[in-house]
Amino acid sequence: MINEKIEKALNAQINKEFFSSYLYLSMSSYFESKNLTGMAAWMKIQADEEHLHAMKFYAYVIQKGGRAILASIEPPKSDWKSVLDVFEDTYTHEQFITASIDELVNLSLELKDHATNNFLQWFVTEQVEEEANVTKIIDDLKMIGDNSYGIFMLDRELGTRQPAPPAPAAA
Ligand code: FEO
Repeated sequence: MINEKIEKALNAQINKEFFSSYLYLSMSSYFESKNLTGMAAWMKIQADEEHLHAMKFYAYVIQKGGRAILASIEPPKSDWKSVLDVFEDTYTHEQFITASIDELVNLSLELKDHATNNFLQWFVTEQVEEEANVTKIIDDLKMIGDNSYGIFMLDRELGTRQPAPPAPAAA
């Protein structure tokens, strides 16, 4: 059985992960509208990964005998000032998700819920990688500035991103 408090918190995380997917799909659509197809493809992969994250939480809640409750998803932002603005928003959002995962870990420790704590460790590692990836892109964009050739090259590079293979723990 699953503790009610952790079940509620995991359900809230399902919603946050689906919102992340929605937000990144909206960013992908923004890039498509600017003809930045490489960045659009990068964000689409990001959106797909967030969907997988949501489904990992969903599967875990059910596996633990809980009930996955799907709440409404807030409409994401649909416009940004620049490419840099999009990736800075991505970074801010990932920091929010990291803080949320950390809160879940704290709750699992407080409740001595070792199974959930173990389940969450994959996300702890994933957040380090996600924040580092976005930081690298932001650094590149700051170096590029207004240079359109630089943006063109970065768009090409980001377009080579491949979807991550499913993690062994993915259910
Ligand atoms: Fe599911 Fe990007 O955190």
